[in-house]
Amino acid sequence: MKVLFVGLATLLCFAGDEALRCNVCRRKLLIFGCVQESGEATCGLRETCVAIKASLGKLPLYYRLNCTALHNCGRMKSAALNSPIFDYYNCCNTDFCN
Ligand SMILES: *[C@@H]1O[C@H](CO)[C@@H](O)[C@H](O)[C@H]1NC(C)=O
Repeated sequence: MKVLFVGLATLLCFAGDEALRCNVCRRKLLIFGCVQESGEATCGLRETCVAIKASLGKLPLYYRLNCTALHNCGRMKSAALNSPIFDYYNCCNTDFCN
């Protein structure tokens, strides 16, 4: 019985660790905060919270908050083909850290 309980507690503990929760927002502006689709998400396996900074040159435009795959972290991507806007993936891995 005791073994069963410890096993269950361990399982619950791991389940708690796995399910990282993050803020979600499609457009977050520096002065207005989230203006489009705010909410929260539970990330999948090998995903983490991200604040994606979209900027035009050195000028930050807005942020997108969500979960993202770990391999995107620290990356800089063009928002679209030939777009002058770049997305920078700034990850963190505690609940609602983004
Ligand atoms: C967050 O990411 C999920 C999975 O990639 C995507 O389906 C969803 O549209 C995203 N939400 C926002 C607000 O960008």
